[in-house]
Amino acid sequence: MKITTGKIHGTEIQADTDIYLCTEGDAQVEGLSNLRPSMKRRGAVTWFYGRGEDDRHALVVGLGPGDKIDGERLREAAGNAARAVRKEGFTAVTVMLEPFVLRQAGRLTERQAVAAWVEGWKLGAYSFDKYRTGKAGPGVKAMHLACGESTEVETLLNEVDRRVEGTCFARELCNEPPNVLHPESLVERVEERFAPLPVEVRIYRDEELAERQMNGLLAVAQGSRYRPALIELTYRTDPSLPLIALVGKGITYDMGGMNVKTGRDLSDARFDMGGACAVLGAMDIIANSGMKANLVALIATADNMPDSNAFVPSTTVSYPNGLTVQVGNTDAEGRLVLADALLHAGRLGADEIVDIATLTGNVGEALGLKIAGGWGDRPLVDALSALGETGGDRIWPMPLMDDYEELLHSDYADMNNIPPVSYGGAIVAALFLRRFVGESARWVHIDMANTVQSKGTGGYYPAGASGYGARLLADFAAERAREHLREKQK
Ligand code: BES
Ligand code: ZN
Ligand code: ZN
Repeated sequence: MKITTGKIHGTEIQADTDIYLCTEGDAQVEGLSNLRPSMKRRGAVTWFYGRGEDDRHALVVGLGPGDKIDGERLREAAGNAARAVRKEGFTAVTVMLEPFVLRQAGRLTERQAVAAWVEGWKLGAYSFDKYRTGKAGPGVKAMHLACGESTEVETLLNEVDRRVEGTCFARELCNEPPNVLHPESLVERVEERFAPLPVEVRIYRDEELAERQMNGLLAVAQGSRYRPALIELTYRTDPSLPLIALVGKGITYDMGGMNVKTGRDLSDARFDMGGACAVLGAMDIIANSGMKANLVALIATADNMPDSNAFVPSTTVSYPNGLTVQVGNTDAEGRLVLADALLHAGRLGADEIVDIATLTGNVGEALGLKIAGGWGDRPLVDALSALGETGGDRIWPMPLMDDYEELLHSDYADMNNIPPVSYGGAIVAALFLRRFVGESARWVHIDMANTVQSKGTGGYYPAGASGYGARLLADFAAERAREHLREKQK
């Protein structure tokens, strides 16, 4: 899609559609009369079709209450607009951005509006249709953003493209079914994607896992036809920065193992690699931006299948930090493989560790489906939460309740991977992980089991994998580098 910006003088733009943005408070929108209140509501898209020849179509996009407008609302509106235009097969649009920004009186700068609109449009236009015979139409070829003459947007738009590409890379991997994307093909895709980038890729498998006693991965993968792996990606453009480890749960399919999951349709169990996808998407954004960072990404990947070789409930797993775990339930496999990766992050000397995982159904009971939970080092959780408010990958701070430690009790090992009650299950899972984080590292755990997918199509989310976390973790790495440089200058 070719994007241009600047004042519209009239005749030079060959668009078939003009897009108008309006909020509930807007009395007059660029000469459009007959705007009904329903057209201004959040999520509304209304067509005024042209009569042909030189009469263009107009699309009115509702943004809801004016005092709630921010980048996220604009991304959402852009996503809705992108699909409305594609559905009609129109190919060239003009977006009346400047008048909208002016009416907003200081809520968003024009640059913020441009970035948010384009990001929302492109993310909203994404669709996973690789396995459909009838593909979605080609979409819009040209977009003109009507805005101030002097707005220099080339670098801004490149930055947006990197965010979109990293997020869609995350979505694509996550959406893939398990017959195509399994631990071995994930490794291949990662090697392929990062080969041209300044990222060192190292894969630990078989004996290399055994030597390091990555017994969680080895136990979980016992019933699988695919070899498990720990994927290690290193991006080090500034070794003077503290080392940040991004740790992702990469269960390519969670059948539950011998505690086999049941249900009418278990297709969503392929999303159990959402944490891994978030980390890989973030690394993609970061490496393509060339930003200063000192990062290692660790992906623990396996699938969790029942089989005569599979590990069974009551098995014990021993970890190299001396802890033993009773596997009360093979479906609580995420914490078992994350433990390996967290210990590995410790061995690498990580100063800050962020793990991200589709860990528990329970986090959704607590927070619903639009905001993930964050545990651990409070200033870091708050930093992530602030970035998520702006960027759209939202996080709510959750408690590490020492009182619930007793729920990790095992009758014959140091801990059990399943608590005796389901209450507070997401908190107990975080307490389990805490035992594998060294004293010297600052640590955050993100449970994104509730945000990994969008159940329906809306805003900039098509139904399916959301790509949650890719933009957030990339923003976090950038923010931590900035913060460190600020402190050094003091
Ligand atoms: N991958 C699941 C968690 C999950 C559930 C993700 C629903 C997305 C949607 C995880 O491995 C799991 O099965 N967790 C169990 C833990 C329980 C057995 C302690 C759960 O949440 O029920
Ligand atoms: Zn499970
Ligand atoms: Zn799982």
